[in-house]
Amino acid sequence: MLRAETDHRVANHLMMLSSYVRLQGRHIARDGVVDRAAVSLFARSVDAQIHAIARLHRRLMTNVNDQSSDLGPLLHEVVACFAIDPETCAVVEDLDPACSVRMDQLLPISQIVNEAVTNSLKYAFRGTRPGRLTVRCLPLPSGDLRVEIGDNGDGLPAALPAGTDGGFGIGLMRDLARQLDASLAFDSGPDGLTVRLTVPRSSD
Ligand SMILES: Nc1ncnc2c1ncn2[C@@H]1O[C@H](COP(=O)(O)OP(=O)(O)OP(=O)(O)O)[C@@H](O)[C@H]1O
Ligand SMILES: [Mg+2]
Repeated sequence: MLRAETDHRVANHLMMLSSYVRLQGRHIARDGVVDRAAVSLFARSVDAQIHAIARLHRRLMTNVNDQSSDLGPLLHEVVACFAIDPETCAVVEDLDPACSVRMDQLLPISQIVNEAVTNSLKYAFRGTRPGRLTVRCLPLPSGDLRVEIGDNGDGLPAALPAGTDGGFGIGLMRDLARQLDASLAFDSGPDGLTVRLTVPRSSD
């Protein structure tokens, strides 16, 4: 029974990844010309998601009765998959060990982080100033969980005011936040963009 349940959950996650690759692939193709940096970033983003699924699979197989898991180590591994060149961008991680989430919340949260990191690498670090990417997770006094991804780029362009749906990535982040019953905010200004996710406290 437990083995079947584990396989079922992992198969669902793989189906989710398959749709992601198909949708993103179409999106890239729609854009016409694809540059090498974009393909490299897409590959690293997919790698990070496969890594997250593999990690969850291992976790479900070895601790089959666990209902929750630490978020910090997963986010650390997701960011590591992007192999960010320290010459381009310093990565600052502030991952509180007290961030525990339900198993079914792990992948949606890691995918939101994945999209936000992808966007920062794509848009934020093109200038001459040294880049900085901050990834944080912490429990709030209310018991809710806060996850933040911030960069020191130029923020969202004026033509895309925070609060609009944006492109595929921001749309996906919004869908996943809805699925998590979480709130998602884009704090944008001349000092950069911070994507802020607030996940309600688990009820289990
Ligand atoms: N960190 C950021 N810094 C500056 N601009 C950003 C940042 N993140 C997103 N944007 C802007 O918001 C727009 C919408 O982002 P979104 O992720 O939805 O789409 P995309 O990255 O253009 O395409 P896709 O996510 O499908 O690859 C981007 O085109 C970009 O102009
Ligand atoms: Mg994007």
